[in-house]
Amino acid sequence: MNFKANLDHLEIFKKVGSCADQLGVDTYVVGGYVRDLILKRESKDIDFVCVGSGIALARHVAQSFDTHVPVSVFKNFGTAMLTIDGFELEFVGARKESYREDSRKPLVEDGTLKEDQDRRDFTINAMAIGINVHNYGELIDPFDGLRDIKRKLIRTPKDPDITFSDDPLRMMRAVRFAAQLKFDIEPSTFEGLMGNAERLRIISGERIIDELNKIIQSHTPSYGFKLLFVSKLLHQFFPEMVDLQGVDSVGDKSHKDNFYHTLQVLDNVSHMSDDLWLRWAAIMHDIAKPATKRFNDKVGWTFHGHEDKGAKMTPGIFRRLKLPMDERLKYVQKLVRLHLRPIALVNDKVTDAAIRRLLYEAGDDIDDLMKLCRADVTSKNNNKVKRFLANFDKVEQKIQDVEEKDHVRNFQPPISGEEIMDIFKLNPSKIVGELKEEIKEAILEGEIQNNKEEAIELMYKLASKKGLKPSEN
Ligand code: CTP
Repeated sequence: MNFKANLDHLEIFKKVGSCADQLGVDTYVVGGYVRDLILKRESKDIDFVCVGSGIALARHVAQSFDTHVPVSVFKNFGTAMLTIDGFELEFVGARKESYREDSRKPLVEDGTLKEDQDRRDFTINAMAIGINVHNYGELIDPFDGLRDIKRKLIRTPKDPDITFSDDPLRMMRAVRFAAQLKFDIEPSTFEGLMGNAERLRIISGERIIDELNKIIQSHTPSYGFKLLFVSKLLHQFFPEMVDLQGVDSVGDKSHKDNFYHTLQVLDNVSHMSDDLWLRWAAIMHDIAKPATKRFNDKVGWTFHGHEDKGAKMTPGIFRRLKLPMDERLKYVQKLVRLHLRPIALVNDKVTDAAIRRLLYEAGDDIDDLMKLCRADVTSKNNNKVKRFLANFDKVEQKIQDVEEKDHVRNFQPPISGEEIMDIFKLNPSKIVGELKEEIKEAILEGEIQNNKEEAIELMYKLASKKGLKPSEN
């Protein structure tokens, strides 16, 4: 099969091909770029394999461009990279690899194109297209990756046990490609996942989380998570999520399966937003349900405090999973902690003070919090769903009204600590913090309006109760 027409849109292939001809090395486009070309997915990374020195070819290609293009050389790996027109080109000599039991670092030697294709993870990633003049556009597809693309299948070229024990990260990649491309995993490949899942433990957390985040960012992340769960890959790095699965019953009282509920919430937010961290908030929102589960004869199953406990569990899980410990963690924690609050505001008798408090605590994340709450409605009863969502419409209206009136969403104290210190000639001290806090509380409770005048008036009253006098000058 010839893909000449598919290459012609980019000048790069002709240019690299003619450089390869000049050096007399057979050169191929390989891996993900070929897969994505056939799938008509855009890709900016192009990998070239040549039967010879990848570094020498990269240098020659760089020189062939009018303007000088810098080449990054990684001698240890025998690879070289350059960027042209926004495309990242990577060059490497064809190689064969053999793996040892205890490590993912293979022994690498020069090899043929076929040997290079033999060492790859999946049939759809093992295709090559020639770019020399004698084979320009020719597809070299020893494992029938083209057929697997048509059948929408992830399959290893060799015995899956060998492919996965050579490099256990490939098990995460199998699920990731299935999730991204909406492919199935071919049965014996899936058996390979189940049989080798425990080997994932030799893989670094950073690499696992890279793949997991790609799964989370796919169109319907529940699909990837179900594959991770059934294969027991999830058990290797995220036992808290596995623990969500299962239904307990006492008499005729049972609770919902929180694993499948969480996945539904995750899909729901994913259809509202691409934001990875909102998706993580969905994953974490009920994470403490197993730890807080109780049975009570009168009310049945309860999970009191799971939102606070979940927020507390989040840093430990983020640290272990090598997720960021910065404001992204804080955002996820905040959404987990607050995810039940809007429901409590449904009641007509809810005071403005309660709304102001939520607005103050959620700040700019209030809209994401409402998305999470809406996503959390997973009842199969359509009437219930309609009623809950209509309630959230009401809550959102209330929030909007209160915000227009009181502006507490991005609360800035109307009097700063410096001003208080200046007026009463104080050094930084506890009392300054107390005054600020009491003024803020009065605003949230609606005792005074959120403006400087009323805040100053209250400050003088509060200060005099504390025995403070303003300085004379
Ligand atoms: N590869 C492999 N085993 C791995 C990683 C990569 O066999 N653990 C091979 C595959 O042939 C893959 C190629 O190396 O196609 C390039 O890897 P990478 O750039 O990580 O992935 P892509 O397939 O290009 O996909 P993506 O860009 O979506 O990550």
